[in-house]
Amino acid sequence: MAAFLQTNIRLNSIKIVPGRYSALTDHQFRAPYRIRCAAASPGKKRYNIALLPGDGIGPEVISVAKNVLQKAGSLEGLEFDFQEMPVGGAALDLVGVPMPEETFTAAKQSDAILLGAIGGYKWDKNEKHLRPEMALFYLRRDLKVFANLRPATVLPQLVDASTLKKEVAEGVDMMIVRELTGGIYFGEPRGIKINENGEEVGISTEIYAAHEIDRIARVAFETARKRRGKLCSVDKANVLDASILWRKRVTALASEYPDVELSHMYVDNAAMQLIRDPKQFDTIVTNNIFGDILSDEASMITGSIGMLPSASLGESGPGLFEPIHGSAPDIAGQDKANPLATILSAAMLLKYGLGEEKAAKRIEDAVVDALNKGFRTGDIYSPGNKLVGCKEMGEEVLKSVESKVPATV
Ligand code: IPM
Ligand code: MG
Repeated sequence: MAAFLQTNIRLNSIKIVPGRYSALTDHQFRAPYRIRCAAASPGKKRYNIALLPGDGIGPEVISVAKNVLQKAGSLEGLEFDFQEMPVGGAALDLVGVPMPEETFTAAKQSDAILLGAIGGYKWDKNEKHLRPEMALFYLRRDLKVFANLRPATVLPQLVDASTLKKEVAEGVDMMIVRELTGGIYFGEPRGIKINENGEEVGISTEIYAAHEIDRIARVAFETARKRRGKLCSVDKANVLDASILWRKRVTALASEYPDVELSHMYVDNAAMQLIRDPKQFDTIVTNNIFGDILSDEASMITGSIGMLPSASLGESGPGLFEPIHGSAPDIAGQDKANPLATILSAAMLLKYGLGEEKAAKRIEDAVVDALNKGFRTGDIYSPGNKLVGCKEMGEEVLKSVESKVPATV
């Protein structure tokens, strides 16, 4: 909360709106497909960015990433208006709900959203609708950001940080395309109910409509097309009906992308193959829950979850950009967090959210430069390197942004 008090949050302007974000229900829309969110009009060089630091290490990594974003942008003639708003546990503490209406409005009206992390021990016992994580679901659902891009790349500088053998990890470069607004996370019926024997039952429903599968599959085909042209669709079509439809729809779309080599894999096998031979994967497309699990697994191959950014995109409106790590309450406030995942999320914001690829490349190059110089936070430290905290890592990346002449995009 302290972090917010230092910023320009007008406490009395934030209303508690009970019920506004109370139910996870229908989220269908059938607008024609476009791959990138049309956040900014062409030629516009001033952008509104909503900053949602959230909880735990969120405020630390966001403040570092904000400076890097600002610097890289200014070198490319971009200006940003930042609006910082509370979300998750921070919002619960301030106003009693995890997603205040004002935060959502600011996010919705922005050109792109940079989010830190959400959650912490303090709110673990809250009722479900008052858990910080609910803010994430509201944002995903109401911004309709159905396509979640989670890259997992093993940088040569960090290959020793991987838990896998060097020869297995080295060169891994994959993109997981996770469906984010459907499936078992949102399906109805849901809840804890009493069955006919008077016994409590917990219900969650894995459900996918054809249009939900088609639109995420198209994002994945397009993504694969821009990468190495290989797409692996992961499902559980030997058991789950939703997966049978998933496989059928993805297969049907393949004829529109003759340049992409499509394969299918059951999720249990995919979990195994990711560890056995991760280099076989280029682009993976999968449902919400499998994507959640496999992206954590893939992150470990890269050495640290503290390195991985993500982008969540819809057909229109702002995209949501966030590190895939959580709020890490055990190290919060100690200047130990690795800010690189958030810095790289800012690069994804520039690239996928605003179409500012040159500024994005400046950030990506600066991260590599700081790593080349040997700077490491604790999670990626190995002997012989320089151990730094969150702030110092941010300063080093900033220096690199300033000094590096960017390679052409
Ligand atoms: C993620 C997270 C979230 C999810 C949690 C925090 C609700 O694990 O973004 O991967 O399950 O989607
Ligand atoms: Mg997860």
